[in-house]
Amino acid sequence: MRNLLITGGAGFIGSNFVHYMLERYEHYRIVVFDKLTYAGRMENLAQALANPRFAFVHGDICDLDAVREAVRAHAIDTIVNFAAETHVDRSIMTPDAVVRTNVNGTWALLEVAREVGVERFHQISTDEVYGFIPEPQRSREGDPLEPRSPYSASKAGAEHLVYAYFITYGLPVTITRGANNIGPFHYPEKAVPLFTTNAIDDLPLPIYGDGRQVRDYQYVLDHCEGIDIVLHRGALGECYNVGTEVETPNIEMARKILDLLGKPHSLIQHVADRAGHDRRYALDCSKLRALGWHSRHSFDEALERTVRWYVEHQEWWRPIKSGEYLEYYRRQYAERAQADPPAR
Ligand code: NAD
Ligand code: DAU
Repeated sequence: MRNLLITGGAGFIGSNFVHYMLERYEHYRIVVFDKLTYAGRMENLAQALANPRFAFVHGDICDLDAVREAVRAHAIDTIVNFAAETHVDRSIMTPDAVVRTNVNGTWALLEVAREVGVERFHQISTDEVYGFIPEPQRSREGDPLEPRSPYSASKAGAEHLVYAYFITYGLPVTITRGANNIGPFHYPEKAVPLFTTNAIDDLPLPIYGDGRQVRDYQYVLDHCEGIDIVLHRGALGECYNVGTEVETPNIEMARKILDLLGKPHSLIQHVADRAGHDRRYALDCSKLRALGWHSRHSFDEALERTVRWYVEHQEWWRPIKSGEYLEYYRRQYAERAQADPPAR
């Protein structure tokens, strides 16, 4: 492994992964291949741009020729596919984009990977592919995939293609299924950065429904380390869950953000729920722990670091919260906020 293509490397987790890998492996060359959608931002890669072992290619993973050209030009031997449309709410509003990028795009990458014979194709997937998990169950890697949103269905579809290429063509693949990440460079449409940046500006924190839905919020670098371990030590054709196994209700997460910022809990505003909202995901991560991984940050540490980053990097998120973002925010929240207040 020497020349890695990181698709979606200008996004949240991808950019953190690029910085992590450049620092950890002195002889690796990293090429980011990214379409630069609203979520992909060159400023996320500012630290990497000056590094001679780093290159950036602007392109769409659905464009087979562009992918092939980048893979050949940079003698790529490893592909890590982060590129995706990642927001569940947007996937509910406009499902076509998730199908195109997450399914068709993954297929195009697999085709090129097979053609050139890469050493490894690693797919970044999500705990959402298991669907809603009732108490006290935890999802293990062999469990059935029962996705319930356009986003999670597209990610499950992508996984099935990846596995099919392993079985049918012998492509050396691995998959990780991560729980919710938090940390630097997280686009402020997702709950934690949205609540944090709204709270800084004394704006309401829109909590869906009763806010008792639970998520496993993990620090992004813990997820990156899990991916790194699977990339180097994971068994071919296998997938691995990555999360803290600690569950936090959204309402508790919102209150903690307000406490960290010294803001009143009255900023919490209950709004109409997300359609088909999965109330709980819960991973069993023992398979990854058996490879020597453990989560280094507790939820409180991860949240504290994240909130501090947004306080200290307002030059990063303030320009984002304008233009297209405001139009999206209006479409997403205007009617929701007027709906009957749900039971708390
Ligand atoms: P993000 O939305 O922050 O970034 C996505 C990146 O993909 C952007 O840079 C965007 O420009 C790029 N992209 C989108 N469509 C593209 C296309 N057609 N061609 C090339 N590039 C394209 O996403 P993220 O939150 O960093 O998530 C990264 C990956 O991790 C995704 O595959 C997501 O499903 C998965 N994941 C995310 C989380 C999470 O909590 N954020 C948890 C588990 C898994
Ligand atoms: O679980 C992994 C997944 O985590 C990733 O695969 C997705 O790419 C990523 O976006 C994330 O999905 P979620 O839907 O869990 O993340 P989001 O930040 O959108 O929402 C977190 C929780 O907060 C969820 O229960 C919905 C709720 N929520 C979200 C928003 C945006 C609110 O209550 N209000 C909001 O305004």
